[in-house]
Amino acid sequence: MTAQPFNMDNQWLPFTPNRHFRTDPRVLVAAEGMYFTTHDGRQIIDGISSLWCVGAGHGRRAISEAIKQQLDTLDYSTAFQASNDKAFLAATAIADLAPGDLNKVFFCNSGSEAADTSLKMALAYHRARGEGHRTVLIGRERGYHGVGFGGISVGGIPGNRKVFSGALLPRVDHMAFIHDQAAYPFIHGEEPVWDTNALEDLEKRILPLHDPSNVAAIIVEPIAGSAGWYIPPKGYLTQLRAICDKHGILLIFDEVITGFGRLGTGFAADYFGVIPDMLNFAKCVTNGVFPMGGVICRDHMFDAMMTGPDHAIEFLHGYTYSGHPAACAAALATLAIYREEDLFTRAGKMGHILGDAMHRELRGLPNVIGVRTLGLAGAVELSGLPGTPGKRAYDIFLDCYQAGVMVRPAGDNLVLAPPYIVEAAQIDTMVSVLAEAIKRHASA
Ligand SMILES: Cc1ncc(COP(=O)(O)O)c(C=O)c1O
Repeated sequence: MTAQPFNMDNQWLPFTPNRHFRTDPRVLVAAEGMYFTTHDGRQIIDGISSLWCVGAGHGRRAISEAIKQQLDTLDYSTAFQASNDKAFLAATAIADLAPGDLNKVFFCNSGSEAADTSLKMALAYHRARGEGHRTVLIGRERGYHGVGFGGISVGGIPGNRKVFSGALLPRVDHMAFIHDQAAYPFIHGEEPVWDTNALEDLEKRILPLHDPSNVAAIIVEPIAGSAGWYIPPKGYLTQLRAICDKHGILLIFDEVITGFGRLGTGFAADYFGVIPDMLNFAKCVTNGVFPMGGVICRDHMFDAMMTGPDHAIEFLHGYTYSGHPAACAAALATLAIYREEDLFTRAGKMGHILGDAMHRELRGLPNVIGVRTLGLAGAVELSGLPGTPGKRAYDIFLDCYQAGVMVRPAGDNLVLAPPYIVEAAQIDTMVSVLAEAIKRHASA
């Protein structure tokens, strides 16, 4: 195949070093099950579920057939002042899976839109209840909530904020990060038990500073995914829930990565036994096959916002493609596969195998300063090359790709998060390819 179609003259790639990519393009032309086919005809294991999306594996015909059938029946219909039949069914299927009284699904098209939707819902909810002064939003250091201005404002990944710092939302604060590298570098399948209070700074400094009565919402990823799979200390989310309850603050879980099975349960909310007021989802809801995101709200939030005259719109927010019929058909087919093949349980089981393999094979290798695994995902953390943070992990990612495994660099971490259909032998291959690449880059 000629290099011509991939010359980068017209495409500007997201979250990618474009100039370097040009010298060594990674182009995927087909996928089936656990594997991609590359433009030069090689097979690559998808070790990251294609950005945490493809829980059921690639090429699931039931999903593509459902989309095709939907497009032949109702291709698109307006999302405002009307809806479509599949959107009702998808909302019910999602709400049925969500814990507690998380019953009201507001559709959007991505995790970034879900983040901004949930923040706006929090402000609108408080205003509807006569507490419009609650406008402070709290995120967490190294949190990732997509790339909208709301999401990067509450997000805490410095590189994502730096260039846009002059345009971020006012009245936002950030809690301390949840990882103690010195004390708990290796986390294997369960949350570390801290002997200090990870939320002390929130309780003793941040909330008194703003006054809790001014705080609208706290948003967290139950596990910090994009930063590099950082797992909270035991009891953290339960304690956070109690703090929010005490002060009338809404709790938002951003489950764009953890939702739909990654931890072996429907949601991280189930895994940790904590129910937020809003739960953001995207990615695995459609197996990544069609864009969809959303926010699931507890009944009390929806009820409180149903104010004003009957003809008036209660929440002035939404997207042209909210509840797109094809996305909803994809979600219904995807959730049916997860259910029929019991894939969440499988993800939990394979997660133990992945965790064991990563701790066994990667601990003790050159430059490895941490290994963290929980659910069907894990990260190995490396000491960075002096003066060039992230470069060692990036080089290892390229090396793994050449060796036939797609891993994900995240700062100085390399992350594995395979589809739930992964086999033990494929886990062995992924982890040993990663181990060999780490060894090859020992002195670089
Ligand atoms: C926790 C979290 N929230 C939001 C997003 C943004 O999702 P999207 O890229 O679909 O906008 C991501 C993406 O990885 C994510 O991990």
